[in-house]
Amino acid sequence: MMARGEADSNPDYWNEYTNLQQVKHDLIRCYLGGWFAKLGFWAGRVVYLDTHSGRGKYNSGELGSPLVALDTLLNHRARHRLLSTSEFVFLFIERDAENLERLKRELASRQLPRNVRVDPHCGDAFAVIDDIVRNTKALAPAFVFVDPYGFKIPAATLRALLRAGRVELFINVIWRELDMAISQARSGLKPGMAATLTEVFDGEEWRDIAAPGLDERADQAVRLLASKLGAKWHTYIRMLGDNDRTRYVLLHLTNHDEGRDLMKDCMWKVAPDGGYYARKSVDPGQLVLISPTPDPAPPRQWAVERLRAQPRRWHELQEDLRSELWREPQLKAVIRELRKEGVISASEYEGTSSFKADPWLRLGTTRTEE
Ligand SMILES: C[S@@+](CC[C@H](N)C(=O)[O-])C[C@H]1O[C@@H](n2cnc3c(N)ncnc32)[C@H](O)[C@@H]1O
Repeated sequence: MMARGEADSNPDYWNEYTNLQQVKHDLIRCYLGGWFAKLGFWAGRVVYLDTHSGRGKYNSGELGSPLVALDTLLNHRARHRLLSTSEFVFLFIERDAENLERLKRELASRQLPRNVRVDPHCGDAFAVIDDIVRNTKALAPAFVFVDPYGFKIPAATLRALLRAGRVELFINVIWRELDMAISQARSGLKPGMAATLTEVFDGEEWRDIAAPGLDERADQAVRLLASKLGAKWHTYIRMLGDNDRTRYVLLHLTNHDEGRDLMKDCMWKVAPDGGYYARKSVDPGQLVLISPTPDPAPPRQWAVERLRAQPRRWHELQEDLRSELWREPQLKAVIRELRKEGVISASEYEGTSSFKADPWLRLGTTRTEE
């Protein structure tokens, strides 16, 4: 492992805490709140790995990601039960020695109970990950937050990590710079960039990221990354700058259905308009343009189309829903509405048509609808 530090290339970063940082941290808080509870009751050991930890605190006083993660456990309502079953390890990697010292000072203000271990480490994130993958026989379930300044993240390293165990990745993909690099490399403007991109995407397929719109290209890039890393599910939220263009995307990758569901729930919570995006500044004037309740038309259409193909049990619709961005509460509301209107019916197969009883749902009314 590298022990030497390398200076923070963007010290001004710590002067600004915008809504984008807030959303990023809210997502970590929300996800870990659920994930710690899901894993902590049986796993024996649970790891939070912050690859680009930073200083632990912004100059305006807001907490950085390591403290956000640690406090989520320390303030968890099931903390005592979780800590009596599992050990929680927080591994914080930071390349800048001065940043790491500051982080250690922040961490010193927390009383750590038994079974919580904090391990701040000075080094290059990707060298440390390679080392972990090479030298760990059985990796404990891990949530890995990758939050660099730039887009140069080697896909092969992250793929090896994702394969090493029950690992969830949450990556800040610096999209605006990555998009620019792709266009420059493709046009031959920066010949050296092609090799970097081939490392970022672990292959030459980045050359096909050429859709006309910025967001369509972001979607292509995210799909490519997810498939290269070998993740079953990818879920992302676009982070917009003041010009409403995507600056970066927060990408969650998991091979577990529960992880996908939990991240969808968290993204809906922090971006309740359902657009899966967040803005740099929250301008109260802008909020009136965003409907506070999600538009039910697409899930309604989706449900009708599914049921047109064949009647489905409720749990089958629930399973199908996982690959969509909609969530169960919206689907339930739509099913209730469609039943009320007589567009679909729920059979009395299990003696009741409540969702719990997993009814058959079909287009058209039946006797049980009356
Ligand atoms: C965007 S900041 C991290 C912010 C932090 N995750 C948070 O949310 O509070 C990026 C940090 O990564 C550090 N860094 C840059 N390259 C690194 C590398 N290769 N390995 C580890 N740390 C790195 C920088 O010094 C900087 O502190």
